[in-house]
Amino acid sequence: MTNDPAELLRMARELALEAGRLIADRQREAHITATKSSGVDIVTQVDLASERLLRERIAGLRPGDGILGEEGQDVPGSSGITWVIDPIDGTVNYLYGLPSYAVSVAAVTGPARSHEWTTLAGAVFDGSGRLWSAGRGLGAWRDGEALHKDGAPPLAESLVGTGFQYVARSRAAQGQFVAKMLPQVRDIRRLGAAAVDLCLVAAGHLDAYYEHGLHAWDFAAGSIIASEAGVKVAGIDGGAPDEHLVIAAHPAVWNELRDALETAGARELLAAP
Ligand code: IPD
Repeated sequence: MTNDPAELLRMARELALEAGRLIADRQREAHITATKSSGVDIVTQVDLASERLLRERIAGLRPGDGILGEEGQDVPGSSGITWVIDPIDGTVNYLYGLPSYAVSVAAVTGPARSHEWTTLAGAVFDGSGRLWSAGRGLGAWRDGEALHKDGAPPLAESLVGTGFQYVARSRAAQGQFVAKMLPQVRDIRRLGAAAVDLCLVAAGHLDAYYEHGLHAWDFAAGSIIASEAGVKVAGIDGGAPDEHLVIAAHPAVWNELRDALETAGARELLAAP
């Protein structure tokens, strides 16, 4: 068994496709079975079925790998690879029949649950039936089409995606923050699935994206897809993105966006006390 990005990419695509088909088939029967950080942070029985499927497949295909998943216990591994999985990113959209949701699967090396890891491969299968994928040093694709983000407008003409946490107090702060960003950009989009948002930046359907308070499984796969397409995906100091803040934009506009975010208070917003 190797930790070759091409092999991990093949497996990430297979996992995302299989779980993506399962959730698409079961969308009509989805109902809420639990809530998490707040009453509006939901889990459906299909999130659990999709996560179960992903965990079984990973354990069968690469039993030495670790797993970090949204809906279950961490599994420590011995191979140096951890699979970071979101069985349904955008669960609220999924429940309401909106297309911006996805299965997100990434293979990373290095310490799990940390901005120190290196993502080797990722795949996102979205609710519109598109398979987005990337391997480290290999490139990024939407289905069979290679993605290259060439150039970008200045911030004032950028369409910028973002999102909000589920806890009311955090949302109130994020609402005040986005009000400071809105007059500085072409417009803001809140589409509801971070993994898909990052793929949309890779393909040029959004110019940029930022979000505070994501979990690793929300951005691990989308980040490698965007960065392999030529997007800079980083935290506030330009290092790896992390659970405090993810900023994604073409390198020509990334600093301008980061500076605007910083001036608006991004460093302090939702920072750990
Ligand atoms: C959520 C989505 C959403 C983002 C939230 C995430 P989930 O993921 O990615 O766009 O704004 O912060 O929690 O909970 O649907 O897997």
